[in-house]
Amino acid sequence: MYKNERSEFFYIDVTYVKYLCIGRPYTRHWIPAFAGMTSGVRGIIGIIMATNATDNLNIVKHKRFDKFMFWLLRIKPLPIHSRKLERAGVKVVLKLYAKSLSEFSGIISFSIFMAILASLANVTVPYIFKQFLDILGSGQSPTQITSLHNTIWLFFGVAFLGWAGWRVCYMINSYFSSRVLALLRQRAFSYLLGHSHEFFANTFAGALVQKVNRFAQSYDALADRILYDIIPIIVQVSFILYILTKERPALALVILIWLFVFIIWNYSFATWKLKYDASRAAQDSLSSGSLADSISNNQTIELYKSQKIEEKIYSDVTNLQALYTRFSWQSASVIDGIQALLIVLVEVAVLYVGVDLWSKGLMSIGLFVLVQTYVLQLAERLWSFSRVVRDLYEAFANAKEMAEIMTLPHSIQEKKNAKVLKNAEGEVTFHDTTFSFNGKNVINHINLTIKKGEKVALVGVSGAGKSTLIKLLFRQYDPDSGMICIDGQNIKDITLESLRNALSLVPQDPALFHRSLLENIRYGKQDATDEEARASAILAHCDDFISELPLGYETLVGERGVKLSGGERQRVAIARAFLRNSPILVLDEATSSLDSHSEEKVQDSLMKLMENKTTIVIAHRLSTIRRVDRILVLKDGAIVEDGTHDELLENKEGLYAKLWDIQQGGFLKDEEDEEIENEK
Ligand SMILES: Nc1ncnc2c1ncn2[C@@H]1O[C@H](COP(=O)(O)OP(=O)(O)OP(=O)(O)O)[C@@H](O)[C@H]1O
Ligand SMILES: [Mg+2]
Repeated sequence: MYKNERSEFFYIDVTYVKYLCIGRPYTRHWIPAFAGMTSGVRGIIGIIMATNATDNLNIVKHKRFDKFMFWLLRIKPLPIHSRKLERAGVKVVLKLYAKSLSEFSGIISFSIFMAILASLANVTVPYIFKQFLDILGSGQSPTQITSLHNTIWLFFGVAFLGWAGWRVCYMINSYFSSRVLALLRQRAFSYLLGHSHEFFANTFAGALVQKVNRFAQSYDALADRILYDIIPIIVQVSFILYILTKERPALALVILIWLFVFIIWNYSFATWKLKYDASRAAQDSLSSGSLADSISNNQTIELYKSQKIEEKIYSDVTNLQALYTRFSWQSASVIDGIQALLIVLVEVAVLYVGVDLWSKGLMSIGLFVLVQTYVLQLAERLWSFSRVVRDLYEAFANAKEMAEIMTLPHSIQEKKNAKVLKNAEGEVTFHDTTFSFNGKNVINHINLTIKKGEKVALVGVSGAGKSTLIKLLFRQYDPDSGMICIDGQNIKDITLESLRNALSLVPQDPALFHRSLLENIRYGKQDATDEEARASAILAHCDDFISELPLGYETLVGERGVKLSGGERQRVAIARAFLRNSPILVLDEATSSLDSHSEEKVQDSLMKLMENKTTIVIAHRLSTIRRVDRILVLKDGAIVEDGTHDELLENKEGLYAKLWDIQQGGFLKDEEDEEIENEK
């Protein structure tokens, strides 16, 4: 058994390690490290990583009952996870929902009222039947016939009320719930977009998409369970106990005891099972993740002919998924089995007590039927009680994840009295600016002034902090100390919109929306006309490749722009910058994806773009920045050299001169090699 458990662990860790690491930044470090570990340690780390990957699940220890259930269902113990749900989490979710629901409070109260009314009608119907049977059993006189007719009409009235109540309730609910769902999605989306670059850098896009959707769907699940299960349960149980206490307290007592046992059993089992539902859900997402990963790597699989390996990987994950699913289903059938037994037991008890009362002349046929009907009605209502508990729990746990994001303050916030930066001239100043990522200093006491219209290049080895400096200028991060000004105004004191309007960026690897090319270009200036957008495309040399596409400017570019080459995407980004025409322009390796021919063309249009603009160019290929006014050399987040190309070259020991030598040297060497080859 012990051996088996170990192999199960190993089995799981291999699965987790392989599939959870995929696409994660620590993959490369983890895989070799895993090789040197014992399988037990690997198993645990594998599970921790799984935990990380699937919505912060916590690993839970098996208790005696868990072990018993695994033994009973003949499944080797599987690792289990739980999602903690504290009261505070529930409160936050309810608060957020209440905020979005406030405008619907009238209609919601009305639909709750209709649900109560309809539930009351449902539970009154058997009572009318009882009256009917009692009259039926008491003779055939004309007054009795009239009473019977009256009772039929009463039955019709009450049954109609129940029918109409539920219809109205469904109608209202589907009318406003669909609107509430849209509203919740919109609120979640708009709050999410207010988060900073840092937030998105630390969160998986797929997980966020899921959280926004779940936040809305959880409301739907909660509303449905409350309206269609919790309210009817409360109304029916109270009414039944009230009627029976009035009629025959002994029967009410039997049902009360039964209810107590039934609900306690169901609630305990349902809350015990929650962790297995969470584990199963985690395994389901692993399985989908693995599938998606293989599908998106289809080309690699084809090229390496590794279909067999992928099939093995996928069957490992799905086999494990099958085990979790089997455990979940079978333990649910244990709940159902015991529930069914409890229902039979209460029926027997009620019949027994009924016969006893009948023998003493205290029980009519009508009452007999009433009690049996009530027992069946309660059984039917409570049959899904464990599902209701699970759904409520799940809905809260799911909604909580988004609620946390929606209560997390935005790290970049506009001041209340922020001013609008109008007619920016484009002077940029960094005053003793310092910034760090998680304690690691990335920008060190930068003091820098870039005059209006000046063209400046930022160079430095990879990781020197060039892109970070630009992110600080765009206020994607706030500096730890010091300040950054545009035209003498601290960028923290101006509105984010006017700040971003003053700046435009052509990034290293531009991603595009899956929209038409025209719309993507127009993103630079939302109110630009089609002609303006096309003119910018021509300036950025986009027009050549766009006009060759069958749908031209209306072509959809694929997710993130995958249908375009890197160079084409970059040219679209340059077209956007032309259209935006902001006073400050930043080119972060803007021509890195272009071939020499296109680069020459684009360089030419970039020169045009840079005219009369303050420009910061980041470039690795130093030959492209020789003509700028000033070159700043960044090393470990500090400016170590500042001057023109010629000035910097004079300092032979300087970093720039060294970088220049390496690049020129490398280039020359290539040429020499070629010549030697040719001579041969
Ligand atoms: N979101 C982040 N969290 C933590 N560290 C980061 C983050 N972004 C960047 N860094 C670190 O900050 C340092 C500077 O990164 P930056 O992107 O500014 O370098 P760079 O000079 O632009 O490099 P490259 O030339 O390769 O683009 C690097 O060491 C990088 O690892
Ligand atoms: Mg960079």
